Formats: sequence, C-alpha cells, structure tokens
Amino acid sequence: MLREKRPRLGLDPALGLTDAEFAAMAHRIHRDTGIVIGVAKRNMLISRLAHRLADLGLPDFAAYMRLLDSPGGADERRALISAITTNVTRFFREPHHFTALAGIAPALAARARAGARIRLWSAGCSTGQEAFSIAATLLDHDPALDRCDLRILATDIDEEVIETARRGIYDRRSIGPEAPPALHRFLADGPEGHQVRIAPKLHALIRFETLNLLEPWPFHGQFDIVFCRNVVIYFDPETRHVLWRRLAGRIVAEGRLFLGHSERMDPRLDALFAPCGITQYRRTAIATPDDAGPVLPFAPLAPRPPLQ
Ligand SMILES: C[S@@+](CC[C@H](N)C(=O)[O-])C[C@H]1O[C@@H](n2cnc3c(N)ncnc32)[C@H](O)[C@@H]1O
Repeated sequence: MLREKRPRLGLDPALGLTDAEFAAMAHRIHRDTGIVIGVAKRNMLISRLAHRLADLGLPDFAAYMRLLDSPGGADERRALISAITTNVTRFFREPHHFTALAGIAPALAARARAGARIRLWSAGCSTGQEAFSIAATLLDHDPALDRCDLRILATDIDEEVIETARRGIYDRRSIGPEAPPALHRFLADGPEGHQVRIAPKLHALIRFETLNLLEPWPFHGQFDIVFCRNVVIYFDPETRHVLWRRLAGRIVAEGRLFLGHSERMDPRLDALFAPCGITQYRRTAIATPDDAGPVLPFAPLAPRPPLQ
C-alpha cells in the first residue's frame, strides 16, 4: 500500500528554494536519516515540503529552515522525516520471502516449543504490513507459537507510520492478490465497512517502535531473522555498508537477512552474509567486533498462558 502523501501543491515560485538552501536541506536529511536527495529529486522535495510551509504559514524555505534549527523545532523535525520518507508497502510484498520464511518456520517453531528465545525484526516496517505478514506466516505454521518466547520487533524512523501500524486497521482494497488465506484468517471487520482489523492474536506477537536505524539501537539481543527490505535503497553506499555490518552483529549464525528486490549485499560483507535465495542472505558464523553476544532482548514479555 502506498501510504497517502498529500497531493502535490502547485509549485509557488515565491517559496523559491535557492541552490544553497536545497543543498542545506539535502545535507540535513542525509545526516539525519541516511536518505539521499539528489538534484533530480529537488521538485519532489519542494512539492512534499510545500504542504508543511502552507500548514505552518511560513513564507519561504529560509523561514522553514530557521524553524527546523530552533529549539522548538523538534515536532517539525519529525514532520520533515515523515514528509520525505517513502512508505510504500503491502501485505506479503515479494511473496517469495514469505515462502522462504515458511520453509524455516518448522525449525524455528521446534526451537520455540523447546523453550528457546526467537526474535525477528522488521527494520523499516512502514505501516506494519511486513511485520503482520511475518506473524501470519509463522502462526499459520504453528498457531501455538504465540504462547512461546517468540516475538517480532517492527521499527521505523517515521512516527506516523508506526502509529498506523499500531492501530492495525487497513483498507480492504489495499489487500492484494499476494495475500494468502493465512492472512485472511487473522483479519476481522474494521470500524468502517471498507476496513479490516488485524486480529489480537497476530498483533500480540509484534512490538512496534519508532527507531532511526542510523542511531544507536536501544536493545542488545540478537535476531534469528531480519527483514530490512526497500529501506537502504534510498541510502548512499557507505551508509548501507555500515548498516548491514551492524545488522551482521545482531543476527545469529545461520540466521537470515532479507533485502528488498532491488538491493544486493555489499561484496565487502561477503564473509558475513552468504546468498541463499532471491535477496536472501544467511549469516555466516564469522564474528564481527560488534557482535552482541547472548544477551536479553528489547521487551519484557507480557505473561502468556503456558503451552498445553
Ligand atoms: C519503502 S518502505 C519499506 C517498507 C517495508 N520494509 C517493505 O519492504 O514493504 C521504507 C521505510 O524505511 C523507513 N526508513 C527510511 N530511513 C530510515 C531510517 N534511517 N531508519 C529507520 N527507518 C527508515 C521509511 O520511513 C519507510 O517507512
């Protein structure tokens, strides 16, 4: 689903973004998010931010940049991130990854039922469909997994999409033909006729949090599986490299990393990630200096009824 960004405003020349201001905005966005705004995206930037200037009653980009830099600019700095991120996603996008996950599910379920701690991460989850697709795939394999120590962390830099994900309410029409029966079993009627609501059993497996992947990660555990798909596509190669290297330190040996359809692993990290499917990588056993070790994870878990 393409989260609706507001329609384009006619470009008012009075908002006139000078070359120096464009360079400063692009620098700020890259520094804060990793996202590269090249000159070819100048009109896209103006179009998305014209709404912010209009809503704030600001006359031009110079005033907007002063607001961003001011001590009271925190809300606007968040709104800027929301305006410039691209949040396209949908349930069971790139379905071959969920087929691969279904293939790994029996081994994960066996470990979970034996009491192991299993963690998955949807890093750059947008409005949540990726995390719900992961959860539906796992619960479809074993409906009792919600009573094991198995959880999915789902994070995004954009607070707005995390709020949408937490609500777990979607337009019926956004559920495309890729969505298998496994998903439909976990959908109930939403508050309005055209909406569906994610069932609590699915929702309870996932913790949604705002997190900038470029900043320190406020948890220490390792993950069995990480989905980081269609996120680094907007980054420069060095930022991608650093992020993937950090992810290598957070994925268990033999764990998996799934990337987006146009993303390929950096050859400099070949020793850490071995290809094992379409944009799917197996974490090798080679240690990185950042390896997190066997530590406890992000979430105190809500109490669950024991397995029968
Ligand atoms: C195109 S969506 C991909 C959603 C989902 N992973 C998928 O493939 O369908 C990319 C997401 O990455 C998020 N993102 C971009 N830069 C980020 C950063 N530095 N830290 C965390 N999330 C980021 C955006 O907010 C956006 O929601």
